[in-house]
Amino acid sequence: MADKDGLKAEKNYHLDVPFANQGGFHVKGANSLDWGMKHRLANIFNPKSGNTVMFAFDHGYFMGSVSGLERLDLAIPPLLPHLDVLMGTRGALRACVPPECRKAIALRTTSGSSMLDDDLSHEVIAVDIEDAIRLNADCMAVQTFIGADGQLSSLDNLSKTVNAGLRYGIPILGVVAVGKQMERTDRFFKLATRMLAELGANLVKTYYCDNFEEVVAACPAPIVVAGGKKLSEEDALSLAYNSIRGGARGVDMGRNIFQSAHPAAMAAAIARIVHEKFTDKEAYQFFKDSTK
Ligand code: R5P
Repeated sequence: MADKDGLKAEKNYHLDVPFANQGGFHVKGANSLDWGMKHRLANIFNPKSGNTVMFAFDHGYFMGSVSGLERLDLAIPPLLPHLDVLMGTRGALRACVPPECRKAIALRTTSGSSMLDDDLSHEVIAVDIEDAIRLNADCMAVQTFIGADGQLSSLDNLSKTVNAGLRYGIPILGVVAVGKQMERTDRFFKLATRMLAELGANLVKTYYCDNFEEVVAACPAPIVVAGGKKLSEEDALSLAYNSIRGGARGVDMGRNIFQSAHPAAMAAAIARIVHEKFTDKEAYQFFKDSTK
């Protein structure tokens, strides 16, 4: 292992140089993968825009019923036209998502804590690879806790899921969790996102931060930005816009969609930014016009 001391602080991210080794495939870092992996990644990342709108509704796996998701069966269908990917648990998918829907599936595969715990960082792999295959998952989502008590076990979960995914051609979504004690700095996110990509994650969900372009440049897998707690619609659209402008290949939003007074209009406005190059201002105007 390299000596931690004496590392040079300054780094050159070559922000003006596009990612090399792309080989004609539109998903960053996926050029050398097999056809099945690429096909699933192309289900997630629209080949035209290169980007994705993921809708996270997996909150129930540790929070139970949250506001806006009391009835998954009613909350999800109106949003479908505006989404590329559904990120949920196998229980929610089987019970509440119409199987004929043509959206990509990001299957949450780890669990182990609940909101009653002080430390949420201890999870296990909860879904067998066979069940991910049965559900036709396009990727398997693994929560990781870098710098937290559960770091070792979460990286073990990630590595085991990467190994299983590689056997059957299912990509891995590495999810960066931010514990109470972690700062939301570019230093932390550069560390966490790079670790996940190097351990084999094919896409990484993380938070937006200062110097986000450097976080993106240093991560050899596409980054999707997490929504986080509910913001005003205007601020959430600015978050989406800044993320895409900073090099994210999409957003994975939950509360900022399903807790909006107009979830479908919000999802549609986000899709305008992600796929149609709308600015945040244009998207907010679109949102207001569609809710008049
Ligand atoms: C976070 O990493 C978990 O997957 C959450 O359950 C969910 O995805 C969070 O979504 P949001 O913060 O946008 O509500």
